[in-house]
Amino acid sequence: MQIWLDTADIGEIREASRLGVVSGITTNPSLAAKSGHSDLRTAIQEICSIIDGPVSAEVMGQGPYEMIEEGREIATWAPNVVVKIPVSEAGIEAISVLSKEGIAINQTLTFSVNQALLGALAGATYISPFVGRLDDVGQDGMMLISEMLQMFKVHEMQTKVIAASLRHPKHVIEAAKAGAQIATMPYKLFKQMFKHPLTDAGLKRFIEDWQSLVRV
Ligand code: E4P
Repeated sequence: MQIWLDTADIGEIREASRLGVVSGITTNPSLAAKSGHSDLRTAIQEICSIIDGPVSAEVMGQGPYEMIEEGREIATWAPNVVVKIPVSEAGIEAISVLSKEGIAINQTLTFSVNQALLGALAGATYISPFVGRLDDVGQDGMMLISEMLQMFKVHEMQTKVIAASLRHPKHVIEAAKAGAQIATMPYKLFKQMFKHPLTDAGLKRFIEDWQSLVRV
């Protein structure tokens, strides 16, 4: 399973990219606003120059024609850009048109297996089910990941699953065990993955033991 970061913060992306384990980026309008990017094109192009892998940029239009026009424009920003489109009738129409033009699409705001089926049939390259937001309303977000993966396997569909809206390290483990091809996560969660109290304690002990020998 690949790790992608769900952020539009250039500093976070630069720092994480140095570690060599982050393969892609997802952004959304809320994240872009949080990072203060009024010029989305410039921000996405900078992110695309830092990360070699796929970088999702979301359309803001509501109707199919706006989404299609915007999607075509976004696709020219960088070779590794992926157009992110929310699922709806308009979104599915836009995905159908753009995917036939060879544009990579990430279908976002997916909360059901039916929405995932529609996106896959429309030709989405990736589908992002929002695990944490389903958990928030008392549903089982990880169950959606498993059911989507099962459906794609049974029908030999090539669409990849991006486990999104992840909130804690156990979400990452569960997504990996279920077989999601990608987990996209906030920088804070990525940093949590490195930590274990026994690693910290073990390292402290190693250093202390070595220093006590050197002091003798
Ligand atoms: C995915 O592409 C979305 O940007 C993201 O995972 C949403 O997560 P949130 O529910 O934490 O906002």
